[in-house]
Amino acid sequence: MRILLASSEVHPYSKTGGLADMVGALAKYLAQAGQQVGVVTPLYSGIRERFPHLRPGDIRITLPLGSRHVQADVWTLEVADRLVIYFIDQPDFYRRATLYQHQGVDYPDNAERFLFLSKCVAHLARNLPWKPELVHVHDWQVGLVPLFIRHQRLEEGWVDAPKTCLTIHNQAYQGHFGADAYEWANLPLDYFEPNGVEFYGGLNCLKAGIVYADRITTVSPRYAREITTEALGNGLDGVLRLRQGVLAGILNGVDYDEWNTTDNPFLKHSFAADSLEGKATSKLDLQRELGLPEASHLPLFGTVTRLVEQKGVDIQLSALEEMLAAEMQFVLLGSGESQYEKAYKKLSARYPTKVAVKIGYDHGLSHRIEAGCDFYLMPSKFEPCGLNQLYSLRYGTIPIVRATGGLDDSIIDLAEDVERATGIKFAEYSSSALVKAIRKGLILFEHSDLLLHLRTNGMSADFSWEKTAQKYLKLFDKILSE
Ligand code: ADP
Ligand code: GLC
Repeated sequence: MRILLASSEVHPYSKTGGLADMVGALAKYLAQAGQQVGVVTPLYSGIRERFPHLRPGDIRITLPLGSRHVQADVWTLEVADRLVIYFIDQPDFYRRATLYQHQGVDYPDNAERFLFLSKCVAHLARNLPWKPELVHVHDWQVGLVPLFIRHQRLEEGWVDAPKTCLTIHNQAYQGHFGADAYEWANLPLDYFEPNGVEFYGGLNCLKAGIVYADRITTVSPRYAREITTEALGNGLDGVLRLRQGVLAGILNGVDYDEWNTTDNPFLKHSFAADSLEGKATSKLDLQRELGLPEASHLPLFGTVTRLVEQKGVDIQLSALEEMLAAEMQFVLLGSGESQYEKAYKKLSARYPTKVAVKIGYDHGLSHRIEAGCDFYLMPSKFEPCGLNQLYSLRYGTIPIVRATGGLDDSIIDLAEDVERATGIKFAEYSSSALVKAIRKGLILFEHSDLLLHLRTNGMSADFSWEKTAQKYLKLFDKILSE
């Protein structure tokens, strides 16, 4: 099968969150399974320096964007057999150090930046010599691609146009712009209507994908159900209900080549389910690295996250306020909204021997936190899939999660199944429910047999991408046969 993926971030080139991990891994494992794969993504600042093998391709694209024409060069990187990354080099749009925002405020030209990216994707899909037969787009930034392809098929003679699939990683981000932005699509006004791309008088890029893609997936089965409800639909539940027949959830996998506890360049000590000494040493190392007292007898809780409402920051902050009287430690690595950054810094200033907070982005430290902690806190308000709870399982760190989206699909609580339990789950979105869950963690910490049982279950759970990629391939087969 010949598949072209498109995403505004792809690990290891650019990343703000799990979207990058997911697309990078999906591409890799589809290619490993024998498919021809391309990925289109922007060439942001720093990528060329970090990947000197990038080749300036001979593809130059000039496309209309409203009343002007914008030019881009396409750089390519052949990563593996059958896997090529196409980087769109448009310096005005993408040569920036951060992807979407500056100091917490969205770039004012995001509509142009990502409509242009979407046009480049459709252009490459049409002109690449290997003729992709399926275009798989991820999130709102490339949400207009299915419409561009459809329009060119219906109106501009693209007879063998590829089929399209949209994956929604987060329905809360929609790329909702003013009506003026539609001008940059250079499409007839016919599509700018309630059954098309129009949403409350403006342009909604995610809605465009939902309406015009041949198939829609989300990154967990439960989230696929949740987004068709008013509570978690973010205003698009009605549109999604109309397309429920082509909507399905596939839980993300983990790239165990990278997220593992042996031969990991970010970890000093290896460990495995049957030899946990390295984990105990990793805990002491982490405490030292973050300036906490080195104490194996204290339960260590951790979180690595974007600091945004979605992640349950408010209930986590108040639950910690209540719990920190207990003998425990907590470490956080995160960045995001400044009110949350400040609140966490304040907490660590008040409890310097119990709380360590690192504001910023640090890939290596994220591995060391996963490895060194006893428990991983993820009390998300909603969570399309979530990857850190899956990384935690492999790293022998017991996830404490709220039962929502992919967290509910991937973690088994003791109350559900003692034999197969991997973590602690709570349902209600409140700090008191989280406090109870943390207390359960403290009790579990005192019962080393049970703790080991959960740990071993988690470490041997299999969320490998090989399996997940097969599910996508099955779906793609179905799309192509329709
Ligand atoms: P989301 O995509 O909603 O942020 P996920 O759990 O799917 O949540 O994925 C988050 C990814 O981003 C994980 O790989 C996590 O380790 C990483 N991450 C988040 N914040 C940071 C940070 N401050 N430093 C390093 N990695 C981070
Ligand atoms: C989004 C979601 C997260 C998911 C990730 C990768 O960022 O917030 O839950 O794991 O995409 O699919």
